[in-house]
Amino acid sequence: MPNRVVVGMQWGDEGKGKIVDILTQEADIVARFSGGANAGHTVVIDNQKFILHLVPAGILHQNKTCVIGNGVVVDLEHLFSELKELKKRKIKFEKRLFLSQNAHLVMPYHQVIERLEEEARGTHKIGTTGRGIGPAYRDKTARHGIRIIDLFDTQLFKQRVEWNLKIKEGLLSLLPEHELIALKNKSLDILKLKRKVKSLLADVSLFLNQSIEKGKSILFEGAQGALLDVDFGTYPYCTSSNTTAGGACSGLGISPVVIDEVIGVVKAYTTRVGNGPFPTEEKTKLGEILKESGNEFGSTTGRPRRCGWLDLVSLKYSFRINGVSKIALTKLDVLDSFDKIRICVGYKYRGKTLTEFVPHLRILDNSQPVYKELPGWQKNTGGITNFKNLPDKAKRYLDFIAKQLKTPILMISTGVKRDQTIRL
Ligand code: GDP
Ligand code: IMO
Ligand code: MG
Repeated sequence: MPNRVVVGMQWGDEGKGKIVDILTQEADIVARFSGGANAGHTVVIDNQKFILHLVPAGILHQNKTCVIGNGVVVDLEHLFSELKELKKRKIKFEKRLFLSQNAHLVMPYHQVIERLEEEARGTHKIGTTGRGIGPAYRDKTARHGIRIIDLFDTQLFKQRVEWNLKIKEGLLSLLPEHELIALKNKSLDILKLKRKVKSLLADVSLFLNQSIEKGKSILFEGAQGALLDVDFGTYPYCTSSNTTAGGACSGLGISPVVIDEVIGVVKAYTTRVGNGPFPTEEKTKLGEILKESGNEFGSTTGRPRRCGWLDLVSLKYSFRINGVSKIALTKLDVLDSFDKIRICVGYKYRGKTLTEFVPHLRILDNSQPVYKELPGWQKNTGGITNFKNLPDKAKRYLDFIAKQLKTPILMISTGVKRDQTIRL
């Protein structure tokens, strides 16, 4: 079986969780390589809904091994509460979930700093998930982050906490004295989790490379989406990690040559949570219909998602920077009721039509989408599992997308459940 990377092609929440769950059946190991508890990956099995944040979605398959790579920033309290919930729901993870010793910790002060910074940004705030992701990645690249392995050197850990609080003194002085003391104690308390961490510890890069040598196949689970990538996304309205396929290499310690396929997950329309440019956003009743039919509320924060039409300009860009080999198209059923469906094929900017996406706010904020309109099918596609049974107009919509993106479709999702899927 091929080693596949599953990555989101829009602003996250494309349905990666469901796609990873299905493709896990064809892999031995599922490896998460970036982001943190800002992710929310939903999997629905029968009538049970699971939302995974840090743990790879592959964990729901009892016989598969899962790893969390060095590229992930880990909030240990969050991880253990997620594991507790899985245990309650009879999902066993002992001896089959491993955590990279080089992954960086999201510390309690990261969340506080993020809140203070978002407040300071005022109307320009990013609208983050509030999970401390940005400050944790910032400390990592500034070289004062604390890694999982550092929990096992008590003196070093304590020194690092002191040092970090000192570096952040300016911002943290906004807190009342008692909150600052509580924050320091809470940060030092993370040490107490090291016993629980021990059973999960691994040299993930070594494990994956040895597994590949033995012929095992890996499914690399991405988080967020290409347009949230810190280098290629709509900066500064993005996350703080590389969300693209290349992140699998740096986030796990594997070579690009072991990747056989890149599966780009595309929602049949577009959504975005948080602030930032969104050229095809529908602030009209149509956007409301998409939100209600698609149940577009954040899996992590519960915030309503902004909704709009499919945007081929940004998708072509996302496909290019990821080298997508196959499409997994999700939420086709959400478009069932529309009599006309729009697809953005260009941006009108200062009298010119742009067809290449550039992640510059000035351009994106001042562009009007140029739409191609396709007829809606106005038939129920929910739960269809055979391509032949799709309405002709739905097939035409899919065909148009695949042709424009010059990429074949591997699967089409027609509902939240595992079996509501068409495989091509
Ligand atoms: P992820 O972050 O990419 O894993 O996506 P989320 O889980 O945050 O959001 C996707 C949402 O769409 C979840 O609530 C899924 O259960 C749901 N979903 C996934 N595929 C489909 C589909 O084909 N049809 C419908 N109606 N819902 C879907
Ligand atoms: P999954 O993996 C959708 C967005 C936030 C915000 C920006 C920065 O479920 O697709 P951060 O907390 O990362 O600093 O927030 O990125 N964001 C996501 N949006 N899905 C996600 O993950 C997201 N992770 C972060 O809403 O706009
Ligand atoms: Mg999500």
